[in-house]
Amino acid sequence: MGIIIEKGGIRKLKSIVDDISPYKTAVITNTTLKKLWLDKILDQISAIPIVIPDGEEFKNIETIQLIWKKLIEIGFTRKSLIIGLGGGVVTDLSAFASSTFMRGTYLGLIPTSFLAQVDAAIGGKTGINFEGKNIIGTFYMPDFVLIDPELLKTLPRIELLNGLGEVVKYGVLDSGLYRKLISFREVDESLIRECVDIKLRIVEEDLRENGRRRILNLGHTVGHAVEKVSGYKMKHGFAVAIGLMASALIAEKVSGFDSGKVEELLDKFGLPKSHNFEPEELLKSMKIDKKAWYGRLVFILPEDIGKVTIREVDEKTVLAVLKAMRYDSRDD
Ligand SMILES: NC(=O)c1ccc[n+]([C@@H]2O[C@H](COP(=O)([O-])OP(=O)(O)OC[C@H]3O[C@@H](n4cnc5c(N)ncnc54)[C@H](O)[C@@H]3O)[C@@H](O)[C@H]2O)c1
Repeated sequence: MGIIIEKGGIRKLKSIVDDISPYKTAVITNTTLKKLWLDKILDQISAIPIVIPDGEEFKNIETIQLIWKKLIEIGFTRKSLIIGLGGGVVTDLSAFASSTFMRGTYLGLIPTSFLAQVDAAIGGKTGINFEGKNIIGTFYMPDFVLIDPELLKTLPRIELLNGLGEVVKYGVLDSGLYRKLISFREVDESLIRECVDIKLRIVEEDLRENGRRRILNLGHTVGHAVEKVSGYKMKHGFAVAIGLMASALIAEKVSGFDSGKVEELLDKFGLPKSHNFEPEELLKSMKIDKKAWYGRLVFILPEDIGKVTIREVDEKTVLAVLKAMRYDSRDD
């Protein structure tokens, strides 16, 4: 898979597509990105836009069916190319549509949110929500991922923060990045490159998430529960930040990890580290998450910065941490 990370890299799209030489090209994007960046693509290549509504609530089978129908209508074949232009919702949907249409078309991703540039568009996981988050999906490697940090200039500030939730996760997994984040100034090409490299290193060892890749779920056991219990109103990166704090506090209890190291980064970026949900409800949601192992509570826990372990944790410990992390308990 070719990953290009370059300021102004969007201008290389034509030559990338020429190399693939697809029969037809469709660009899947949403109503927001259509106004901002679609022309930059249509100026360079001949492609049919498929525009979907903006929002996580549209990451579902109905949207996929609309896309499949449109592809049939325009005479799409396996030798055709789908380009996903958007944040993680669009890249997940586009990749899922591409992997399933006629058993797989060419696929290119142009992630436009910070979170999609450092995470969602990397690693070949596709998915839609069905009864729960990302329950239906495939593993499918794109032919190219074109990451242009210039596209972030239209991104609302809150979405930058959202992406930083996943960046802090990478910082806990990699001590070199952790040190850089401590003296962090701004989101730039080198930060994106570093996160992508960390993710790729881990993914390449374990494409289908049987073993080591699971460490990328650091912070996601509690994070997914927070997303679900908030009715998906809380952004993914913020939920992961809360999940990272929970993992750090659990690790402190079970192995003496210094949770202050994680807290310091979350504070630096102004990311949340407490919640306002019923701890029991979070626990219930965690037990039915697909990342739980047959109902057991398995956590990725930091032993130190740059070193994590996968461990089963008892309910009592998890509940105590979730209770301690509630806003109201902090005000006491
Ligand atoms: N496949 C994976 O490995 C993976 C990993 C992490 C997250 N995800 C998925 O990614 C999704 C979250 O991604 P997200 O945070 O990018 O959300 P998103 O796609 O909803 O984008 C957030 C918002 O930013 C807007 N936006 C995006 N780029 C913009 C730009 N350049 N200028 C202005 N506005 C812009 C979007 O229209 C949207 O309103 C979730 O569904 C999550 O499950 C997937």
